[in-house]
Amino acid sequence: MSGQGSTAMAPPVRLQVNGHTHALAVHGQVTLLQVLRNDLGLNGPKYGCGLGECGACAVLIDGVAARSCCIPLDGVAGRAVTTLEGLGQGGALHPVQQAFIDTQAAQCGYCLNGMLVATVALLQRHPRPTDAQARTALQHHLCRCGTHIEILAAVQRAAVLLAGSATRPVADAPAERGGPA
Ligand code: FES
Repeated sequence: MSGQGSTAMAPPVRLQVNGHTHALAVHGQVTLLQVLRNDLGLNGPKYGCGLGECGACAVLIDGVAARSCCIPLDGVAGRAVTTLEGLGQGGALHPVQQAFIDTQAAQCGYCLNGMLVATVALLQRHPRPTDAQARTALQHHLCRCGTHIEILAAVQRAAVLLAGSATRPVADAPAERGGPA
């Protein structure tokens, strides 16, 4: 016992982001969004409402879209977090990003992070999403510019781009066409 430094330090929280592991000496109740933006310099996720309602802060946690403004850091310790910055590979854009460019689906850009992340998650579940599935997946992502038509077109364009880069054929279109997401 040293007699000094008697204040117990909480052990660092280990966080895996975009394939890199970080040990963060921050309070475990700070939000994931704050850590991503303020401690790791990842500004893809945006602060919009801070209430889990707008979707601007979305990230993937173990491949599932989640709202980082409402998730305490402790809640994602040891899990794989992917932000917008981690979607592309080897300096290339992710096909979903390319699709949004191709269809001119961006205006102010504030909602784009959430739209892109939600689309990646959707296409992992449904490689050939119906229009209804796309609308359901994005319905709680707010876009105030009104580019919803272009965004829905981007989802379908992304499905085509991803199918083109896939190694397996995608002729087996989803059987649940028109059904609930
Ligand atoms: Fe997280 Fe709006 S900032 S949902």
